[in-house]
Amino acid sequence: MNENLLHALNDCPPRLAQSLLPYLSDEQFSASFSAEDVTALQQVSGLSAAELAIALLPIAASYAVAPLSHFNVGAIAHGESGRWYLGANMEFAAAPLQQTVHAEQSAITHAWLSGESRLTAVTVNYTPCGHCRQFMNELNCAEQLMIALPGCATQSLHYYLPNAFGPQDLGVTQMLFDPQTQRLSEHDDPLVQAAINAASQSYAPYTGAYSGIALQLASGYWITGRYAENAAFNPSLPPLQSALILMQLHGHPVSALRRAVLVEVAQASLSQREATAATLSALGCHQLETVTVTVK
Ligand code: THU
Ligand code: ZN
Repeated sequence: MNENLLHALNDCPPRLAQSLLPYLSDEQFSASFSAEDVTALQQVSGLSAAELAIALLPIAASYAVAPLSHFNVGAIAHGESGRWYLGANMEFAAAPLQQTVHAEQSAITHAWLSGESRLTAVTVNYTPCGHCRQFMNELNCAEQLMIALPGCATQSLHYYLPNAFGPQDLGVTQMLFDPQTQRLSEHDDPLVQAAINAASQSYAPYTGAYSGIALQLASGYWITGRYAENAAFNPSLPPLQSALILMQLHGHPVSALRRAVLVEVAQASLSQREATAATLSALGCHQLETVTVTVK
């Protein structure tokens, strides 16, 4: 178990800390808890589901990478399947601040990449900023999504974002977490194909600029990420950030990065290439391969 997790355990109620130990010390721990885990943790800790989610926030926040602010934010995305996905903010020293990932985006993307088809709630240790409220308004569950915070009554997303601007203002009805399967051309190289598969599941209803990334690690294992566009454009999450979220939550250090392949569609109206290369460079990875594919 890493040191940050160990520290975070000290911030949990003792009975919960004790029952979390087997999960957190498992090398395969995926920074998420199944519905059965949640029930078991509730039984041993004596906490309600809502209390348990709040009590787990220090664990989520322990995944934060915040070299600029030293402000650790932790979030939990509650999947319709009953699984809880942890997330934390990620800052990149030497890259523009716009590349930052917020904890809510991390937890939500974690759930999306794990195949969850809908969320019910997001629990977070600080009030969500405007950018996150807008990011969450892109979700297919936005109308029903609840936001839980320590010391506050749980409220709907629309309580926090009244009079919202969203996909409907641009005539978009398919929303983030709705199944996306773009038919893209194929490739012989398995890493490139992994990035193509990610791109085919990306969400880009405003530009059609579907994109995905595959990051190969020293072990040979790879992690993929998909682009998540936003009606207000700026809160869009680039594919690199999506993959980096999963790397961080699954315990892979960026120093393990060996190869990066970005896939974009030919003649797209925008490109992730320059920003991706710059952020990767800030992380010490100076080679980005870009492959363009056609939509079939
Ligand atoms: N942060 C979040 O993760 N979520 C929010 O909604 C508030 C802000 C992060 C972003 C940045 O890494 C740090 O907190 C300071 O703003
Ligand atoms: Zn935010």
